[in-house]
Amino acid sequence: MLRTYHWRLVKLLTVTAALLLSAHILLSRVTLGKHPPKPSPLPAEEYRLIAPETYEYVLNRPAVCGSGTRAPFLVFMVPVAPLEAAAREAVRKTWGGPGQEDTLTLFFVGLPEGGRESWLQAELEEESRTHADIIQVDFQDSYRNLTIKTVQMMSWLATYCPNASYGMKVDADVFVNVFYLLRRLRGSPRRGFITGSVISDGRPRRDSNSKWHLSEEQYPEDSFPPYVSGAGYVFSADLAPRITWASRFVRLIPLEDVYVGLCLRVLAVRPVYSLGLPTFRNLFEVRQLEYDRCTFSQLVIANGFKPSQLLHMWQDFSKGHSSC
Ligand SMILES: *[C@@H]1O[C@H](CO)[C@@H](O)[C@H](O)[C@H]1NC(C)=O
Ligand SMILES: *[C@@H]1O[C@H](CO)[C@@H](O)[C@H](O)[C@H]1NC(C)=O
Repeated sequence: MLRTYHWRLVKLLTVTAALLLSAHILLSRVTLGKHPPKPSPLPAEEYRLIAPETYEYVLNRPAVCGSGTRAPFLVFMVPVAPLEAAAREAVRKTWGGPGQEDTLTLFFVGLPEGGRESWLQAELEEESRTHADIIQVDFQDSYRNLTIKTVQMMSWLATYCPNASYGMKVDADVFVNVFYLLRRLRGSPRRGFITGSVISDGRPRRDSNSKWHLSEEQYPEDSFPPYVSGAGYVFSADLAPRITWASRFVRLIPLEDVYVGLCLRVLAVRPVYSLGLPTFRNLFEVRQLEYDRCTFSQLVIANGFKPSQLLHMWQDFSKGHSSC
């Protein structure tokens, strides 16, 4: 009687041990398959190029977010060249206007050509006194330096607006349907969330004539991890400090949206598509579309408009969108 009991116990223990072992092997396979190899920190001289500490604010608004718990729900962060005053004015008069409840709009610029002594710098400072919405960092503003600007934007949000719920990186030539966007965001995840037009099959262009050229030396892998197209993407604000942190592991490349995708891979965060119901339409339209009030009322962004077009569309849209 005791012997049988003993024997059963031994069998039970053996089976349990075998099950645990196979579960362990299975799980480690799954995680190995899902995650890229453990990232290693960049050498100091490479990290210096991207590190927020390397650069200084020339114009800053440390208190613009408000103090205590009254932080904006959504912060629009708009990278824009120093010369593009008309684009900034159009954004202020449309979706980025201060009249929009619960949102804050900030423009991020680098130094103009000619640096701090140029006439353009004097104009930027004047514009900043008038509108209090310009953040300027002391690197040269150029297309190739957009990645530096994006990491700066993340670092700014993490430092000066930690209680915002969401951030949105959005170009100044984009139409944003703030009304629909805010409604969608009220029900969205508050952590580890990033959405936009997701590109899951991106690859580096190796031909040196391409605007998006990347040499094998700059980027040895032959594909990109999933990333969101740079025209406009929205993320829960907790990702701002996390993306800033992840930049220690990701070499600077001149494609800012792919760069953010590489940081997301370090963090094991997957960008998600935003689909409209019941049409399953991509809400972040990165192709250029002809303006139509009721089509646009069902999108979050549409891309590629001149300042005069934005102003014109907004006049019609802001009054009429709710009757669609
Ligand atoms: C963020 O909110 C917390 C309370 O939730 C508050 O104590 C803190 O001061 C706020 N931080 C800022 C920078 O406003
Ligand atoms: C920014 O871009 C320009 C030209 O595209 C380059 O000369 C400069 O070194 C870059 N970096 C910084 C930090 O300004």
